[in-house]
Amino acid sequence: MTRIFINYRRQDSEGYVGRLYDHLVQHFEPQDIFMDVDSIPPGADFVDTLEEAVSNCDVLIAMVGPQWIDIKDDGGERRLEQWNDFVRIEIASALKQKKVVIPVLVGRARMPVPSDLPEDLLPFARRNALELSQQHFAQDVKKLVKVIQDAVPTKQSNKAKPDSETFVRKEAALKLVRADLVGATESPLYKFRIENRLFPVIGEGNPDANIIFIGQSPGKNEAEVGRPFIGPSGEILAEMLKSINLKREDVYVTNIVLDSPPTKRDPTPEEITFYEPFVDRIIDTIQPVVIATLGRFAMQYILKRLDLPEKRQTISQLHGKLIKTRMQYGEIHIVPLYHPAVVLYSASQKATLQKDFEKLKLFI
Ligand code: URA
Repeated sequence: MTRIFINYRRQDSEGYVGRLYDHLVQHFEPQDIFMDVDSIPPGADFVDTLEEAVSNCDVLIAMVGPQWIDIKDDGGERRLEQWNDFVRIEIASALKQKKVVIPVLVGRARMPVPSDLPEDLLPFARRNALELSQQHFAQDVKKLVKVIQDAVPTKQSNKAKPDSETFVRKEAALKLVRADLVGATESPLYKFRIENRLFPVIGEGNPDANIIFIGQSPGKNEAEVGRPFIGPSGEILAEMLKSINLKREDVYVTNIVLDSPPTKRDPTPEEITFYEPFVDRIIDTIQPVVIATLGRFAMQYILKRLDLPEKRQTISQLHGKLIKTRMQYGEIHIVPLYHPAVVLYSASQKATLQKDFEKLKLFI
């Protein structure tokens, strides 16, 4: 499912919009194509309402007709210069939210240059435009559809629903991983586990989840009950999940190290290597379409494990990016995220984490 927002000005491109819609519905679901923000309730902030409508989409198509740059209101002021112009608000909002913004030129319009645009639309001038001509309309729309499909990762919401058979099979496979882990006496953390009456923490959540979150290692509190992310970091994780309408039960949450180390410290290479086959089994069982890594250790672990070209980059370079790759069972995206604990140390990081989490909406 790819959600498309069509931004247009009636006087400028109306003749083309209806025709474009008729073509797009042959490739996308009609309920995923938005052309007008239907109603703005009395008292609502209309800028917020438009921004929210844009935030619910993956792609914004900006129809640019021959009058797009110069069209004026009754007072002779250029519409694009007005703070409350809905075309401007919607495009600026999509740019700000880093949505895919595709200018579509109609009626022989030209692409605006920076000097035509108010400041919040300047990045629009750098977007590559596509032209829809009356003569080659169907062909041109085909190109547009391809651009949309390439720009937005294939959503895998068509992943088999956890019919009871799949669910039971995966749940059983995860139980086996846990049993093997319980008996893993050769683990570098086994002695600490036993001496402190702790449990291994294999992970929890939906065994058939689309999204798996992989953190660093459980803390002692977590190992006391055998559940990951139940402390302050877990609260941040829950808050972030809620902000994108997900619950813990919808996803699977685990770590790269599956026992608690004796102190809060970075995992050792020996620990990471020891748990690797267990983590592999967890991923292979769940077969997620997204691996969201939490923190730099989990990120490096996955990028190296899959031998991806990004493996030498840092988390500050990669956080919030969608890295497309393949596993044996199909296409997958790696989404590196900062560890939720960053918010505990630096509240200003919350907005960054929040924004990065938004990327996961593409897979829900
Ligand atoms: N709890 C976990 O399970 N993993 C972390 O990385 C942090 C807290």
